[in-house]
Amino acid sequence: MSDTTAIKANASPLNRYGEMCAEVYVLDKPPGALGDIDYYREALGRLDGPFLEAACGSGRLMIPMLEAGLDVHGFDHSEHMLAQCRAAADERGLALKVQRTTYEDFSFEQRFGAIVSPVGSFALVNDYDAAAAALRRFHQHLRPGGRLFVDIMPLAYLTARPLDGVRSWTTPSGDLLRIVSNVVELDLLAQRRVSQDRYERWRGGRLVEQELEVLAVRCWGLKEFELTLKEAGFADISVCGDYRVGRALGPTARQWCFQAVKAG
Ligand SMILES: C[S@@+](CC[C@H](N)C(=O)[O-])C[C@H]1O[C@@H](n2cnc3c(N)ncnc32)[C@H](O)[C@@H]1O
Repeated sequence: MSDTTAIKANASPLNRYGEMCAEVYVLDKPPGALGDIDYYREALGRLDGPFLEAACGSGRLMIPMLEAGLDVHGFDHSEHMLAQCRAAADERGLALKVQRTTYEDFSFEQRFGAIVSPVGSFALVNDYDAAAAALRRFHQHLRPGGRLFVDIMPLAYLTARPLDGVRSWTTPSGDLLRIVSNVVELDLLAQRRVSQDRYERWRGGRLVEQELEVLAVRCWGLKEFELTLKEAGFADISVCGDYRVGRALGPTARQWCFQAVKAG
């Protein structure tokens, strides 16, 4: 871990997902990427819509759900991630129903048959009280009998190696994009980890652009998340590892996939 001192509050808003971050997200995880697409297509396909994807971002999950004919709405706080989502939907002739808002503030008139928060995004709500309030808001926004899906990384993610590192991608136009990542805060009591990700664009051997992302995540204990779901009013809570429904959760799972029901 780097010994960089605490970040000044104005260095970058936390979990901003700015322009370069959104560009890299789509290069790294285009629509349809990762192992949760079939899991969600099958689970939502059995339920009645409309559905809501919290923090839908660039549409990695939402685009294949719309292509499957599912009525999915979404919200995200990053205009840059939503711009990528719009571009992906336009390319495919899909109509989007997304709003720019946050886990902390979202409010919709309709009630949903299911709400999904995939790929660990819920950990970006990095304060316990705010996260508990978001779960209560999910509960309010579900129809009786509606189902919540939240995938979170295990508590061990806080100290998972490597804590620091460099990753790179080449854009279609030949630019090199790099992320240089350093963990700058690790608070095991608050279950919170903060990293500084420096996004760099290299062209013709020159650094032509850079942006700083400060990412803060709060990880959960398994029982802690279950109890917080219960406190928010949910019942029939189940969890599996890595989208393998019906299989016992093992210690090496990379995602804990929770499902919970709003009593009918
Ligand atoms: C890991 S991405 C996931 C995007 C998409 N759901 C997917 O499955 O690929 C996390 C998303 O959370 C959004 N985000 C972070 N904090 C947020 C907040 N407090 N409220 C709403 N969205 C937030 C980011 O803008 C980003 O699009």
